[in-house]
Amino acid sequence: MQAVDDGSIQSVITSPPYWDLKDYGHEEQIGTADESYELYHDRMEKVWTECYDKLAADGTMWVVVDTVMERGQLQLLPYHIAERAEDLGFILQDMITWYKPTAIAGMTERNVVNKKEYVVYLSKNKGHKFNPEQGSNGKEDPAVEEGHRLGNLWRHPVKRGSVGQNVLHKAPYPISLISRIVEVSSDPGDKVLDPFFGSGTTAYAALDLGRECVGYELNEEFSEVIEERLSPLEQHSITEF
Ligand SMILES: C[S@@+](CC[C@H](N)C(=O)[O-])C[C@H]1O[C@@H](n2cnc3c(N)ncnc32)[C@H](O)[C@@H]1O
Repeated sequence: MQAVDDGSIQSVITSPPYWDLKDYGHEEQIGTADESYELYHDRMEKVWTECYDKLAADGTMWVVVDTVMERGQLQLLPYHIAERAEDLGFILQDMITWYKPTAIAGMTERNVVNKKEYVVYLSKNKGHKFNPEQGSNGKEDPAVEEGHRLGNLWRHPVKRGSVGQNVLHKAPYPISLISRIVEVSSDPGDKVLDPFFGSGTTAYAALDLGRECVGYELNEEFSEVIEERLSPLEQHSITEF
């Protein structure tokens, strides 16, 4: 991220590895089976520090992440990410609940079915950029109360594990979710950063809405997926590092 100018990013929008939940096929990936929970957060903290430096004074960071089950016990991963980010100077604005109506039952029958994830919403300073009217576009969305103010319960269905017709990435988030964040947190022409690019959903939403985008992905195999995904967009201003 040294290639990105400090203070040049309006919004960081990302979804990191959920500790050791999924193997993305690279030995240097953050969050592996043999990495302790503390070490995972230590490594993530370096990423959050870089994000903090790259953000503009009125910039915000949005981290899509969920709690994880570890040996039958729930780890409050989003809360621990929020705490680490606060230690670095970020201000926690909200913990938005992303309601996933299409979520299916998980591995254990002795528990409730998990129908949500969280969006950890942080700002670099007080007085950050926020356009709430821009995000209230889902008519049947519980996020939108009386068609005006944006609430913190967002409904975005997922197609699990799929991009296009094939399974190209294990954990893409829905474009509608990211478009909403892009719209509320930035204006056309602003720059968006995603340090965990995956299949490039952040770039798709950002470029489609007239923003610029910078992103990083450890696994080179995803570059083809990203390219294919962004190809329908008329204007390409993706910056590669
Ligand atoms: C949850 S996925 C992101 C999915 C993405 N939001 C999408 O819609 O496709 C996390 C990504 O982080 C990548 N990753 C893991 N460790 C990384 C690292 N050290 N640097 C960059 N990317 C990393 C993984 O390969 C994986 O693609």
